[in-house]
Amino acid sequence: MKILVTGGAGFMGSNMIHYLLKTYPDVEVVNFDDLTYAGNLLNVSDIEHDPRYTFVKGNIADAKAVEKVVQGVDLIINYAAETHVDRSILEPEAFIDTNIHGVFHLLEVVRKFNIPRMVQISTDEVFGAVMEGESDEDSKFEPRSPYSASKAAADHLCHSYAVTYGVPVIVTHSVNFYGPYQFPEKLIPLFTMNLLEGKTVPVYGDGMQIREWIFTEDHCRAIDAIAQNGNPGEVYNIGTGFRVPNLEITRKLIEMTGRDDSAIEYVKDRAGHDRRYALNSNKLRTELGWVPQVTFDEGIAQTVEWYKSHKEWIDRCRDGSYKDYYKQQYVDR
Ligand code: DAU
Repeated sequence: MKILVTGGAGFMGSNMIHYLLKTYPDVEVVNFDDLTYAGNLLNVSDIEHDPRYTFVKGNIADAKAVEKVVQGVDLIINYAAETHVDRSILEPEAFIDTNIHGVFHLLEVVRKFNIPRMVQISTDEVFGAVMEGESDEDSKFEPRSPYSASKAAADHLCHSYAVTYGVPVIVTHSVNFYGPYQFPEKLIPLFTMNLLEGKTVPVYGDGMQIREWIFTEDHCRAIDAIAQNGNPGEVYNIGTGFRVPNLEITRKLIEMTGRDDSAIEYVKDRAGHDRRYALNSNKLRTELGWVPQVTFDEGIAQTVEWYKSHKEWIDRCRDGSYKDYYKQQYVDR
């Protein structure tokens, strides 16, 4: 089976590629990534000589490049996206280009070349803030940031292509991921790195916003189950039910890094900050038999350990030199 993982140099994409190569001896994986700021080839440097793996530099919003790379592919898993809410507030345009136009081009090639399956990774943020109860697959979309609006638009496109053209696309709504290789702009990697380096951590507002968390490996297993046994045209929520305020995550990280509450710096809240997300993932559990296997305590211990033992990765993220890796390994050689 030949699988195209778009955004495979990013956090979730690279975790998925590792998972696929580890789980399936006969798989062929193509990593298609444009290496924007969050694309880091160091994330996949350990498997770059695996004969089952190929890297192709390109953007999903580039129709020609996408047409070329999908030839012979059995499954597309689309992780390529602009994902950081704060950036979408400052500079929304890239979110429209990648998250909407990019998905449009992928859907077009799936249609044109009869690709057997596509999985579109989307987010619980399309449902907006859920002050009580849970969002299920049929809940109303109420995106409140340019990021979540762009993801919601792409989800609508996927639905329309499934209904109108019978394109076999499946959409997933996922909660907050964490684990190794996550770019240090998101809460867990940023706070872990700051704490390890003796710096403070910027908690937005009162820190009582609630997020639901999933360890990356559990998410990979969910995507695998959905890609293999999910129904084309349908939507699956992927969540763990583990929901806590940001301050609780912050205090956990403080404890694990041997710091104290003086490391907390309360800063101005994010504009339009969604107060709470909560996903109902019963459909995935009952129909496809998926259950999370890693508790938060286990996952966060592995994650903090990974950051502690990958100082070079952290330094190269901090000073931007991870960007040179592509040139050194793929252009100059
Ligand atoms: O819910 C799924 C979503 O989770 C994904 O679709 C997004 O791509 C991903 O970025 C993430 O969005 P969040 O905004 O929830 O993630 P982030 O790590 O940026 O923030 C988590 C919470 O922590 C949020 O309530 C904002 C807060 N926060 C974040 C940062 C970066 C802080 O208090 N301080 C910070 O410096």
